[in-house]
Amino acid sequence: MIPTIAWKGGAVCMLDQTKLPTEVVYVDCLDYKTVAKGIKELWIRGAPAIGIAAAMGVALAAQDIKAKDFETFYKRLIPACEHLAAQRPTAVNLFWAIERMKTFALAHKGEKIARLKEMLIEEAERVLTEDIAVNRAIGEYGAQFIRDGDTILTHCNAGSLATGGYGTATAPMRVAIEQGKRIKVFADETRPVLQGARLTAWELMQDGIDVTLITDNMAGYFMKKGEIDLAIVGTDRTVRNGDVANKIGTYSVAVLCKEHGIPFYVAAPTSTIDLGMASGDLIPIEERGSHEVTEVFGKVCIAPGGVKVANPAFDVTPARYITSIITEKGAFHPRDIRKLGYKKVDLGAVRMKV
Ligand code: MRU
Repeated sequence: MIPTIAWKGGAVCMLDQTKLPTEVVYVDCLDYKTVAKGIKELWIRGAPAIGIAAAMGVALAAQDIKAKDFETFYKRLIPACEHLAAQRPTAVNLFWAIERMKTFALAHKGEKIARLKEMLIEEAERVLTEDIAVNRAIGEYGAQFIRDGDTILTHCNAGSLATGGYGTATAPMRVAIEQGKRIKVFADETRPVLQGARLTAWELMQDGIDVTLITDNMAGYFMKKGEIDLAIVGTDRTVRNGDVANKIGTYSVAVLCKEHGIPFYVAAPTSTIDLGMASGDLIPIEERGSHEVTEVFGKVCIAPGGVKVANPAFDVTPARYITSIITEKGAFHPRDIRKLGYKKVDLGAVRMKV
């Protein structure tokens, strides 16, 4: 599995995913503003990976702060946290990771500033390593839903590239393969940014997993023919009533699954669960630039100049379409997600306004 992000000396090194699949290019971000730019411009994307980048961005910002006492240090860290939090609104991991770093700093306010700076790097690296372990656990719980010979549909990229490694939606597939099950994956191309075509198809091929790329409008055709056994997708935010925000088009897949009696699973690390939000209707949905719809990566124009465009990057799948939400703590019926009982982080202070 190709690494997505790492702390390298005094830099955050991230794979520029906008260049995939044609080029494998790593960027060294030397300051937190470059990390923020990487999040905004999708060099790094996918909810868990965004969280890891934000944690490392906070650690990077901390290194440049000149302060003799904790109060001054913390006061100077906050603008960096706010800048990072302002880059994308939907994936809750961004806010979760920043809040975790702030809470960590506050809990170690007695340390010498030089030591605290080192400890913040260590904490950011823990966000990365814990994420990989979490994904592995999701894989163990999720593999029980996959039978030998199954074909699994996935949407967008909730794979290794979207996380610290192993992926969330791809984790049950990887464990199923380790268990000796023979599986096939259908990857939706995922218009308009093509995470399915550029990223999921690429990473599964790299790992020798049998993948077939389809355009988004083909999913119903294959379901009707009985060629899809189950769907597994990731999530950017899962809220208290079990509603789930994920890449635009996920809702359509879920509705199609219901029509065809196909189980629809969501792989959700608890870092993407926002129990502070009551319903999916409240999730802020990112609206991205019209060029993503009217052009193919700035190269080919595919729509008349001046046409009106809508480009919501995510949609919300209501809980009633979801068979099970697979977390690192087990698989839950969506209505039981509220019972998870993990320590809820107060995201109020860092929640981005849209
Ligand atoms: O806009 P993106 O590429 O960040 O959207 C990513 C997704 O929608 C993923 O499915 C989601 O973040 C889960 S990643 C494990």
